[in-house]
Amino acid sequence: MPETVAAGLPRHIAIIMDGNGRWAQQRYMPRAFGHREGAEGVRRTVAACAELGVPYLTLFAFSSENWKRPVEEVDDLMWLLRSYLLREVNELNRQQVRIGFIGDRSALAPDLVTLITTTEMQTLHNDRLVFTIALNYGGQNDIIAAAQELAREAVAGHILPEDINPESFASKLMTSGLPDPDLIIRTSGEQRLSNFMLWQAAYSELIFIDTLWPDFSRQTLEQAIDMFSRRERRFGAATRSQT
Ligand code: FPP
Repeated sequence: MPETVAAGLPRHIAIIMDGNGRWAQQRYMPRAFGHREGAEGVRRTVAACAELGVPYLTLFAFSSENWKRPVEEVDDLMWLLRSYLLREVNELNRQQVRIGFIGDRSALAPDLVTLITTTEMQTLHNDRLVFTIALNYGGQNDIIAAAQELAREAVAGHILPEDINPESFASKLMTSGLPDPDLIIRTSGEQRLSNFMLWQAAYSELIFIDTLWPDFSRQTLEQAIDMFSRRERRFGAATRSQT
């Protein structure tokens, strides 16, 4: 797995892609048009992270709450994802990108689940960038599922309640194996996490930018990384000037 990272670069960037609908609306186009352009933003961002040497990228593509959207829009998003995976797998292999998914697959169409599993297998050997797509993902559900699993293990007598600690808890989350995100970016000016990586965001730097997701470019990414590199991360310790 990619473990080294250049100074100032975040090891793991997670992005809440927001603003596709408004981008389309500004052009008097249907929301689906914005999502299609959003998929181009995904391609650009994956390529930029691979080139810059960011080892982990996670994108929030569909939340467990997004089922509340009109069925046509949900279908559009699922077809976009199918088309992205089918079209992109060769390019991901060329760029040495390993794709993975977090989220509840049980509610997804069986053909999509098969496509997801196949694409994960086809890119499993790549080690330049670990690209994770959060699909039907919710941070609270992730935490509840981990708690349930540990409760089952305790009831079965395999662990004691005292054995539960941040490390054992994190190992039961869907993100187990991924480092916590150093930087979480949200586009479109909204300033909230919307149930994304609630546990994992404990010490993440948060950057909110006004750019709508379809306009997100390599330059926008580099500006966010630059802001990140100038932040002082303390992880609960005193500031440098106090020590
Ligand atoms: C938020 O914009 C965006 C989404 C809910 C979906 C993100 C999906 C994509 C970028 C395209 C497909 C993904 C992949 C991985 C190929 P919004 O619709 O909430 O925008 P709005 O707030 O302006 O309405």
